[in-house]
Amino acid sequence: MAGRTEHAKLLSWIEELEALCQPDSVYVCDGSQAEYDRLCAEMVESGTLIRLNPAKRPNSFLARSDPRDVARVEQRTFICSTNKNDAGPTNNWVEPREMKERLTGLFKGCMRGRTMYVVPFSMGPLGSDIAKLGVQITDSAYAVANMRIMTRMGQGALDVLGRDGEFVPCVHSVGVPLAPGQKDVRWPCNPDNINIVHFPETREIWSYGSGYGGNALLGKKCLALRIASVMGRDQGWLAEHMLIVGVENPEGEKTYVAAAFPSACGKTNFAMLVPPKGFEGWKVHTVGDDIAWIKPGADGKLYAINPEAGFFGVAPGTGAKTNPNAIATLHANCIFTNVAYTDDGDVWWEGLTDEPPAHLIDWKGEDWTPSKGTPAAHPNSRFTAPASQCPSIDPEWENPKGVPLRAFIFGGRVSKDQPLVYQAFNWSHGVYLAATMGSEATAAAVGQAAMRRDPFAMLPFCGYNMADYFNHWLNVGRQFPNPPRIFRVNWFRKDDDGKFIWPGFGDNMRVLKWVVDRVRGRGYGIESPLGWMPRYDDINWQGVDFSEDQFTGLMAVEKDSGTHEAHAHEELFDRFFDRLPKEFVYERELLRSRLWRSPDHWEISHTLHGGL
Ligand code: GTP
Ligand code: SPV
Ligand code: MN
Repeated sequence: MAGRTEHAKLLSWIEELEALCQPDSVYVCDGSQAEYDRLCAEMVESGTLIRLNPAKRPNSFLARSDPRDVARVEQRTFICSTNKNDAGPTNNWVEPREMKERLTGLFKGCMRGRTMYVVPFSMGPLGSDIAKLGVQITDSAYAVANMRIMTRMGQGALDVLGRDGEFVPCVHSVGVPLAPGQKDVRWPCNPDNINIVHFPETREIWSYGSGYGGNALLGKKCLALRIASVMGRDQGWLAEHMLIVGVENPEGEKTYVAAAFPSACGKTNFAMLVPPKGFEGWKVHTVGDDIAWIKPGADGKLYAINPEAGFFGVAPGTGAKTNPNAIATLHANCIFTNVAYTDDGDVWWEGLTDEPPAHLIDWKGEDWTPSKGTPAAHPNSRFTAPASQCPSIDPEWENPKGVPLRAFIFGGRVSKDQPLVYQAFNWSHGVYLAATMGSEATAAAVGQAAMRRDPFAMLPFCGYNMADYFNHWLNVGRQFPNPPRIFRVNWFRKDDDGKFIWPGFGDNMRVLKWVVDRVRGRGYGIESPLGWMPRYDDINWQGVDFSEDQFTGLMAVEKDSGTHEAHAHEELFDRFFDRLPKEFVYERELLRSRLWRSPDHWEISHTLHGGL
């Protein structure tokens, strides 16, 4: 049975798209289990999916993409506002009419020989005030199945939409029409013509050419971040690339924290953190692992919801030691994309077990043995899993009101100089710390780390001028007498041998506890040139062997590199010209003068007093 609607505008939009894309048939999704099972069975039949061994992993599937279609494509992602300056210097921009013409050309007849699926969905709990509705048109059954896991999809969303509710129209095609009788390929895509397009003013999304992840599941990055960030700017709230966790101490006191790390920098791991030895009675509850919508409440607090219903997580590096909650979440009802296939019909990826199996079929569908020398799973291979299956899921995760935030954490992947943790002196300093965040993108070919500025981990996801986005953040903080505290972290500092100094993963709890202590007025902090820092004794070291010397090294601030870094912020700021908040110029000067007054090599042990 298909989805039913009497929404006149939706029905006429579907007709319009049918005329443009010329599919063989149109199907409105109801989101039922029967529909999901049927679509998956069809994809198994056509070779797009492999059904995993039901004894090992019930109701789960493996997909292998075209090797040219394995990740989001930032160079082909566009923000088409009327004025170029409203997209800003960090987004690709094309004049909206010109882009509409390009899209009409691409979409004309693009679904010939295929089914056009109509996928109604809600980002956020069905019917909640905070939720937004979208309808995705797509010719990819794989996208439909993933959308069912990642969003509240189907008849429920149509019912909330009613006869005249508002929705964000999302149009998606893999861009491979079929001639009569032409046999389809396993993973149709059109990599030479990828366009991921957003019209922020009319709140429309058009995506062409890719079937992978954020390019194809349009509720996620396209709607919940790029379009929602524009809605948030206009309506006074925030759409962020953040995980949300609730930290519960042994007394049962719960503190909610949101954290922004760039793509593949540890959000999923942090969201499902298992407290290590020495933290008996502590619990970390998962609200979300990738996106947070944050709204001011009437009580002067900021409330956050996770608009998603599933996790689209990086597979490699996910193992029983690094992320047991993720492993438990993946026991059934999942779709795996571009991981390796085992001889007994299950999945494998680097980091799932210490020892690789003796034989696998790799993500390209080729025989693989450990001596092959290439990764068996693609580095951006992913799992799609229902959030409700996560053992650490927070009882409040679907509360339409959201959860009250007490702290924001920002962190990139930086191998040198950036300390483990420090706290901003105040809101505007915190916004500055978030805006100047950087992360190293490892250029695989040369093996060299290059720093890329990724303000708020939102560089690829902000739907408008980032300078205006910084101002929006400053304004939100001004509304509150007691806004959440802001912290910077870095799990990735390396020693001279290139090894991570910090154990990371569960041990990140030690840092998280200090964050909670600080916002609860219990934790001590020393003033460093960068911000408030914990002393060795301010961290709980029970259950781990981490010396005071190691900690001192991890927290040290080098005057030269710090000054160089402060100088480099200018390169980012210059791009925004006069739209840059005046506060940032001021913050940079304060940072430079604090560094100027500091010793060449600032260490926490040098400071005996001056804390708060
Ligand atoms: P997106 O889904 O792309 O937005 O990213 P994410 O931030 O959710 O990425 P994810 O959590 O899947 O990050 C995966 C990578 O981070 C893997 O390579 C992990 O090994 C690494 N990682 C996560 N936490 C830590 C940590 O505490 N220390 C170190 N060294 N690596 C970590
Ligand atoms: C990211 O790249 O930040 C992701 C994966 O979360 S995707 O949905 O493909 O964008
Ligand atoms: Mn992400």
